[in-house]
Amino acid sequence: MIELLRKRRSIRHFKDVAIEKDKVDLLKEAALRAPTSKNLHSWEFVFVDDKDTIGKLSEVRGQSSYFLKGAPLCLAVIGREDVNDTWIEDASIAAIIVQLTALSLGLGSCWIQIRNRMHSDDESAESYVKSVLNIPEQCRVVCLVALGYPDEKKDPTPSEKLRWDKIHVNRW
Ligand SMILES: Cc1cc2nc3c(=O)[nH]c(=O)nc-3n(C[C@H](O)[C@H](O)[C@H](O)COP(=O)(O)O)c2cc1C
Repeated sequence: MIELLRKRRSIRHFKDVAIEKDKVDLLKEAALRAPTSKNLHSWEFVFVDDKDTIGKLSEVRGQSSYFLKGAPLCLAVIGREDVNDTWIEDASIAAIIVQLTALSLGLGSCWIQIRNRMHSDDESAESYVKSVLNIPEQCRVVCLVALGYPDEKKDPTPSEKLRWDKIHVNRW
């Protein structure tokens, strides 16, 4: 795991190659194996491989999401506020577990923030994604995750660049 974490970087350029079905199935399984508060599974996932739909989703947040257009797969991570008040935590844990599983399979990924972000002056990013994906009103969209084979090489962050000053021991 530490070797994976050392390699992990956000990937925003993808090869124009589909992800094999067995790998997509593993990503689905990884999402469903994420821990959730009280084991209530306060999430839902939409896996999108339709190019037109991915194109529409890539417009959700302008420059911050445009790279999604080149990804063969997009995962919308949805929280169920009506199921548990830990919906943000549950959904975020599932998203990173999918991202790390993707990395272990040779794939790259990048989180695109949706919750608390705007699509335009008068429409939230959540409302835009919900209308593109037909997501029910009571559901909350936490993020999109762009996934695919990397078409960029990024160096691992060296250990000396880590924010060791953020670590406190015994007391702040
Ligand atoms: C909560 C969260 C929201 C993020 N939102 C975006 C986003 O909207 N668009 C984007 O391109 N990257 C987004 N990222 C990726 C970060 O920019 C990236 O993780 C950070 O710059 C560190 O780079 P690294 O992942 O390569 O180490 C987000 C990451 C997190 C954890």
